[in-house]
Amino acid sequence: MAASCAHWVIPAVSMSRQILVTSALPYANGSIHLGHLVEYIQTDIWVRFQKMHGHDCRYMCADDTHGTAIMLRAEKEGITPETLIGRVWDEHTRDFAGFNIGFDHYYSTHSDENRELASTIYLRLKEAGLIDVKTIAQLYDPVKNMFLPDRFIKGECPKCGALDQYGDNCEVCGATYSPTELKNPVSAVSGATPVHKYSEHYFFKLGACEAFLREWTTSGALQAEASNKMQEWFASGLNNWDISRDSPYFGFEIPGAPGKYFYVWLDAPVGYMASFAKYAKDNGLDFDAWWGPDSKTELVHFIGKDILYFHALFWPAMLKYSGHRLPTAVYAHGFLTVNGQKMSKSRGTFITADSYLAQGLNPEWLRYYYAAKLNGTMEDIDLNLEDFVARVNSDLVGKFINIASRTAGFIHKKFDGKLADGVANLELIGEFQAAASTIAAHYESRDFAKALREIMALADRANQYVADEKPWELAKKEEAIYRLHEVCTVSLNCFRLLTLYLKPVLPKLAEQVEAFLNISPLTWDDAQSLFIRHTINEYSHLMTRIDPKSIDAMVEANKDNLAATTPPVVSAPAPARHAEAQVNATHPVAETISIDDFSKIDLRIARIANAEHIEGADKLLRLTLDLGDLGTRQVFAGIKSAYAPEALVGRFTVMVANLAPRKMKFGMSEGMVLAASGSEPGLFILSPDHGAQPGMKVK
Ligand code: MSP
Ligand code: ZN
Repeated sequence: MAASCAHWVIPAVSMSRQILVTSALPYANGSIHLGHLVEYIQTDIWVRFQKMHGHDCRYMCADDTHGTAIMLRAEKEGITPETLIGRVWDEHTRDFAGFNIGFDHYYSTHSDENRELASTIYLRLKEAGLIDVKTIAQLYDPVKNMFLPDRFIKGECPKCGALDQYGDNCEVCGATYSPTELKNPVSAVSGATPVHKYSEHYFFKLGACEAFLREWTTSGALQAEASNKMQEWFASGLNNWDISRDSPYFGFEIPGAPGKYFYVWLDAPVGYMASFAKYAKDNGLDFDAWWGPDSKTELVHFIGKDILYFHALFWPAMLKYSGHRLPTAVYAHGFLTVNGQKMSKSRGTFITADSYLAQGLNPEWLRYYYAAKLNGTMEDIDLNLEDFVARVNSDLVGKFINIASRTAGFIHKKFDGKLADGVANLELIGEFQAAASTIAAHYESRDFAKALREIMALADRANQYVADEKPWELAKKEEAIYRLHEVCTVSLNCFRLLTLYLKPVLPKLAEQVEAFLNISPLTWDDAQSLFIRHTINEYSHLMTRIDPKSIDAMVEANKDNLAATTPPVVSAPAPARHAEAQVNATHPVAETISIDDFSKIDLRIARIANAEHIEGADKLLRLTLDLGDLGTRQVFAGIKSAYAPEALVGRFTVMVANLAPRKMKFGMSEGMVLAASGSEPGLFILSPDHGAQPGMKVK
């Protein structure tokens, strides 16, 4: 094993932390795709990093199994929901294992533990006076005898008249509305015309938790951008949250309320706890030490930005008022785009985890690429397939693996597989060791992109060293034998340290390297030891290059595959549930504003006279807007991900003309253009009908 050594090294003395980490629970309603993997890979890297430090870190997850969509899908397939979720659990766990996601426990929300915990939490909220019962009207399918979630109602958009739109928003004009506003609605389940029907619903009084939530959301548990978003939500008022659904519904019946079920989003986050409860039982851990009100452990949730509302408002409020500990951190990430666009079934970029693996593509390539793009913010990340191939081939094969492949052979051939007993020149190795703390800090703050930039800069240094020392020439000269031994030993020290630093991202590759170097699993402290006086195994090739043809084949496979299995209308796609959830969170108890409030906003038709890229801005375009008689305005709009500037010039749109000018990094922004966005990626600027002229008032 590597000899612990030299005097200049101070072993890191670190306090061991206890950390419970979660990723959002994927719906048991569809396959895992590359978008999901942004989250599970990100969390897994962070968890592995913590474990390498010797922290007591446990990674919990589960399938999110309840709700109307799952119930209807099972019915359609002629199986019970239990059978369906059992099958999906098998698929999900297989896919995650395929990408080396190392959950400590992967459970299901349809478990006894979850039923018990969700019921207890509900009863405590009720005792605290936080549950309200109200009668509300909703659309009801008189043939299926069930209330219809928004995504199961289709009709004509009340704003633009587009046909065949969902009950919550229009994909043509981007309008959002309540399903009762749809024209000529039909049930997507039976085709019947829905009727209005009244029933009692249970509400969690979120409004009553406002003071606590205002404090908690600014306490440092959220990223700054998320915390700012919260302030907008507070400004528009917290609505009480509808937590019940009527039978038939696949879920848990509410205690003391026959025929009423917990809305899936009530018991979903409780699933984090339930997963841990089962794990604790099986592993002899004290549940309360992790979830009790006085818990000293860290609780860290990784989520996508689309479900922030649930994790930053409902969940902490539920925890707080049911006598549990609060999350230490909620880390939200952005959405995945593929080749700069929303994942698309017709383009073949809605890529399932399974289809990636089926092409024989190495999961660690994707882990590396995502890590290289993740920076701990809520920005979307793009998987550009060409760049993916180029980057992985150049960084991993061209730079990293290359260091071993160019030097290991000599150790074998010339030195019986033995590294030198010592090295004279420790400068380069010292530099590599010194980087450990900086790299660790980047991992800790989830700026994996920065961590990898540091690591690749070291790889460049090592390659330069090999190129300068030319071991292949030293090998030809008898008198250079010691020098050759030293150069190869230094190179393999560098290689070992690079492997250590990359291990959270590339756990399987690191395992192969550990076997090749004949060492026990690398931990972070090993960065401070020297790798000498040690026999290594024979080098065999560690990683191949990506063949672009297999990427093309994967895209093709996803085109076919998905065209053939386009889900029937009753199994609404997973993101639909967010929309349902968000809308249900605000309907039918939506806050209203007066006509006076509305008339304060000066909306105007604007012609985009010019649009241009801004040096150094990732998201913004600089727009020059022509408002006719009102003159022109400069506006910075965050729409770069969706529009090429030249595609905008000449278009008409709608702007808020009386927004107070705001000084931004790149200049003054004098207003705002209106664009639609939802839970799925994509941005859509609004356009007026033909005939509207610049400067016209929109009312
Ligand atoms: N079931 C809920 C979460 C309940 S947590 C108590 C859910 N499920 S999901 O399957 O739709 O998404 C699971 C996670 O994957 C979410 O955090 C979501 O944001 C993330 N992603 C799903 N599609 C994604 C992309 N295209 N890109 C990045 N992350 C994405 O939400
Ligand atoms: Zn519309």
